[in-house]
Amino acid sequence: MEARNFDNDAGNPTSCSARTVARREEEACDFIIALIYERSRIRLHEGKQALIRARLGKRLRLNGFTCLADYCDYLRRPGCEEEITHVVDALTTNFTNFLREQDHFQFLVDQALPALLGRSRKKFHLWSAACATGEEPYSLAFYLDEKYPLAEGWDWHILATDISTKALGKAEAAVYAEDRLTGIPDHWLRKHFQKGSGQSEGHYRIKSRLRERVTFRQVNLLGAYDLQERFEAILCRNVMIYFDRATQQQLVTNLNRFLITSGYLLIGHSESLNGLPVPFRCLRPSYYQKQ
Ligand SMILES: C[S@@+](CC[C@H](N)C(=O)[O-])C[C@H]1O[C@@H](n2cnc3c(N)ncnc32)[C@H](O)[C@@H]1O
Repeated sequence: MEARNFDNDAGNPTSCSARTVARREEEACDFIIALIYERSRIRLHEGKQALIRARLGKRLRLNGFTCLADYCDYLRRPGCEEEITHVVDALTTNFTNFLREQDHFQFLVDQALPALLGRSRKKFHLWSAACATGEEPYSLAFYLDEKYPLAEGWDWHILATDISTKALGKAEAAVYAEDRLTGIPDHWLRKHFQKGSGQSEGHYRIKSRLRERVTFRQVNLLGAYDLQERFEAILCRNVMIYFDRATQQQLVTNLNRFLITSGYLLIGHSESLNGLPVPFRCLRPSYYQKQ
């Protein structure tokens, strides 16, 4: 790819010289931090310079830049929306795991759903907001499949959303390396995963029967989004931790619109809505119910 360099635009052909490079790189990091905050409300605090450089290294190379400052000049130009999406993808942390904080899944199948559905209703919708690479919605599907089998007339669906298109791509592909599957009981491995062979050796794919129950979609939880469905429960876990209190309140107030009356909101174990004026009753830490 053609090397891009906009130094001349700034009227300073040697702007990446040793004399200015440190200051420009620092300003570039500040720009990236502000950009990520504006787009995702994730705060990359000071000390994240190394992370920014490491995660954006590939983007710089792909676009023909050798220094972060020049890359940022490029991002500031009109028409760079697609590249900015890649920056957000690279820097929003997608860490997740199968069966993470699994007491939430157990609570949903054993207590929340029976209380909401009563004796006759067999159809329901759940939302994994900020689903990252899919482990969360698929884990939920393992539990639902056991307690609410489709073969017995149950009809459930999971909407799984994230801001990161890269994470969503992986989630939709549903292919996971063997070492990501530790902790999943053997009977679920056999029931829900296909073992790869040849080029896919060492990888496993979620079977289509469960994949079909999950719909992936890009949603920025802080943007102006709308959804058709209303949900019995929403999992919004380990994303709010990156946001300030005002942003957390905005996010949760938005989620509330999509919950049915008495629906449940589950947040990460290390997160809390304490002290926020939100329309939820706290059942116990990280478990909330719409009032
Ligand atoms: C640490 S992962 C949590 C994944 C999963 N919920 C869990 O608990 O394991 C956080 C996810 O939040 C997503 N995220 C960050 N900001 C977001 C926003 N404004 N809207 C939607 N998703 C966002 C990130 O892309 C990332 O995939």
